[in-house]
Amino acid sequence: MYFIAPSILSADFSRLAEAVKMAEAGGADMVHVDVMDGHFVPSITFGHKLVADLRENTALPLNVHLMVDNPKEMIPLFLEAGADWLSFHLEASKHVHKDLQTIKEAGRKAGLALNPATPLTLLNEVLEELDFIVVMTVNPGWGGQKFIPATREKIRRLSQWIKEKKLGTLIAVDGGVKLDNLAELFSLGMNIAICGSSVYGAREPIEIIKKMKLIAQDFNGRTSRDK
Ligand code: DX5
Ligand code: ZN
Repeated sequence: MYFIAPSILSADFSRLAEAVKMAEAGGADMVHVDVMDGHFVPSITFGHKLVADLRENTALPLNVHLMVDNPKEMIPLFLEAGADWLSFHLEASKHVHKDLQTIKEAGRKAGLALNPATPLTLLNEVLEELDFIVVMTVNPGWGGQKFIPATREKIRRLSQWIKEKKLGTLIAVDGGVKLDNLAELFSLGMNIAICGSSVYGAREPIEIIKKMKLIAQDFNGRTSRDK
């Protein structure tokens, strides 16, 4: 399964509803919402109220990425707000397994995000609990950064590991994903393309999303032919 998830971090914060409408018009599969607390990363972005308000105003699933210290405190707020997919950082949680259970018990998709320098081996004991993994391909905190080349190999190895274990865990790739490298990343094992500046920094975001969707659909077609 291959999805396009525009990240509203790169949209105009005074016109977020329009940004979500653009995602809908382009045929995006979900909207990525970056929550930054000013501690885990220096910036401060969105709180749970934004998620609750967006949830009321779009049918698209909301994929919420918590870049916060103490995710345990915030997970219940974002579940209550209606996050459909919820990830937090492995580096920030003291009780990773427990925090994942909180999300799963609410019937939502539970994900773990990994910084570029965090090794995949840290997933050993929880891989089977995960609905998705957010592989950070830039250091978290800002949109518009350059894709870190060494993370390609990480995506490839993670994808191989998931296949070997015959799991359905999806790989989301976050940071520096754009039209130019989309097909390459899907080939490496990415399932969910999180795209911030490449979509909302473009003159015609809807056209870019449509082009990205065509590439995703092409990969979806290939997978169903393989079956
Ligand atoms: C970065 C965020 C990303 C951000 C990606 O910390 O987690 O979701 O929106 O932005 P781009 O696609 O511009 O690298
Ligand atoms: Zn993100």
